[in-house]
Amino acid sequence: MPPHRDVAAFDDRAPGYDTGWRGRLHHDIADRTATLALAGSSGPERILDVGCGTGYLLRLLAARCPDATELVGVDAAPTMISTAAAGAHDPRLRFSLGVAERLPAPDGAFDVVVSTTSFDHWSDQGAGLAECARVMKPGARLVLADQFSALLLPTLLTSRRGKARTRRRAEGLPAAAGFRSLQWHDLYAVIIKAVTATT
Ligand SMILES: C[S@@+](CC[C@H](N)C(=O)[O-])C[C@H]1O[C@@H](n2cnc3c(N)ncnc32)[C@H](O)[C@@H]1O
Repeated sequence: MPPHRDVAAFDDRAPGYDTGWRGRLHHDIADRTATLALAGSSGPERILDVGCGTGYLLRLLAARCPDATELVGVDAAPTMISTAAAGAHDPRLRFSLGVAERLPAPDGAFDVVVSTTSFDHWSDQGAGLAECARVMKPGARLVLADQFSALLLPTLLTSRRGKARTRRRAEGLPAAAGFRSLQWHDLYAVIIKAVTATT
């Protein structure tokens, strides 16, 4: 697996991550992702957030899902996990250090898997999606929110070579990981979109 090259920078940013305009941006994306995650759901029991950062989205989902029994956040940056754990006052919340490409979770455990603005940083995006599929129950819902736009094409020639940053490039990966019923949603501004899919 290639090195997780962006993680050290997120580790440094964790203490102030939720502040300022960038914090507000991430919260807005998380708010809209939560709505998409729960659309049409009868009330998920177990929820996973991959690349959970400081845990804002999982806390939000915990508040909106009184019947959920466990909400798990996984992140590759230790300080993100310790910050998330420090803010977790709901006993159903659990945060673990780990990577998308090797999720610390058993097969078939989750009803909903979410991930916001983390996918672009995964070292092996295909392996990460295969792991998401592995830990989901049959018929479970995936919401993957990130930057997906043809406007990002120039970055594929430079710093983000090989990344699935356009809808076209991103569509093949969930399908290869076994997901079906892919649907795209405009989430924020022009380039932040979410793809929903089921196992
Ligand atoms: C831009 S932050 C997003 C955090 C949070 N999801 C949010 O929306 O605010 C990206 C997060 O992905 C994490 N990350 C990067 N590569 C990862 C990987 N391979 N597996 C799990 N987490 C990863 C980083 O440590 C960071 O916390």
